[in-house]
Amino acid sequence: MNLIEIKGVTHAYKTKAGPFPVLKNLNISIPEGSFCAVVGPSGCGKSTLTRLIAGLMFPDQGEVWLHGERVTSARKTVGMAFQNPVLLEWRTILQNVMLPLEIVAPMMPRRQKEERARELLAMVGLEGFEGQRPSQLSGGMRQRASLCRALVHKPDVIILDEPFGALDAFTREDLWQTMHEMRAKEPFTALLITHDLRESVYLGDQVVVLSGRPATTQYVMEIPGGGPRPLEILYEPESVERLAILRHQIQIAQGREAA
Ligand SMILES: Nc1ncnc2c1ncn2[C@@H]1O[C@H](COP(=O)(O)OP(=O)(O)O)[C@@H](O)[C@H]1O
Ligand SMILES: [Mg+2]
Repeated sequence: MNLIEIKGVTHAYKTKAGPFPVLKNLNISIPEGSFCAVVGPSGCGKSTLTRLIAGLMFPDQGEVWLHGERVTSARKTVGMAFQNPVLLEWRTILQNVMLPLEIVAPMMPRRQKEERARELLAMVGLEGFEGQRPSQLSGGMRQRASLCRALVHKPDVIILDEPFGALDAFTREDLWQTMHEMRAKEPFTALLITHDLRESVYLGDQVVVLSGRPATTQYVMEIPGGGPRPLEILYEPESVERLAILRHQIQIAQGREAA
């Protein structure tokens, strides 16, 4: 079953200068438990797509379906993480991770919320840092905590909008591996927006290339053999070929935007 269905989505922002088309007949299907990476030129409409899936906005035309239901209101069952982890400085790391549970499961006993948050923090290697404030952690650690917060309430889907973009290359690669480990321990469906083709190939079961604005589905690549894998896989001929194809597709997408 497809957990997410984007069907013929077309959308324009209403601006003073008139409608500003951002998405045009966009189609994406994401099977339950799979990981979809979306790449596309800057400003083509990727973040707009995430807002439509989360039900924070609705398309002019077409439909967004989540778990067999058409999205017509904001969804609590969507977990989100962004490039700048928006952690609250007046809360400890543990309290930050528990936050979604306070909203989605207010009746859950505090101890149970805490156990769940601690379990995830341990999974990403943040055991011992639960009592720290966000500013006491490195950027990579804050992003780990932010991933825990996105997953703590077991959302149907987790939407990651360039979450690793601000991290240095090695920290980023560590986090890619953590993503695979987390999925292996606790499967989830994910939509990842990224501008890093290696990241899309390493993490994705499917890579969708969006055209320049207004974005449409330009190219879809399936990547078989999911699950944790060594980083070296990126240097194998199959991966190198995939990266070359995606690179070419991005160039086409960028060309269209300039036209
Ligand atoms: N609320 C808005 N009103 C008008 N234009 C917007 C709004 N939000 C984004 N845009 C414009 O829509 C385009 C797509 O934005 P966005 O989805 O953020 O792109 P991406 O995430 O791919 O970089 C951009 O040109 C952006 O400036
Ligand atoms: Mg964006």
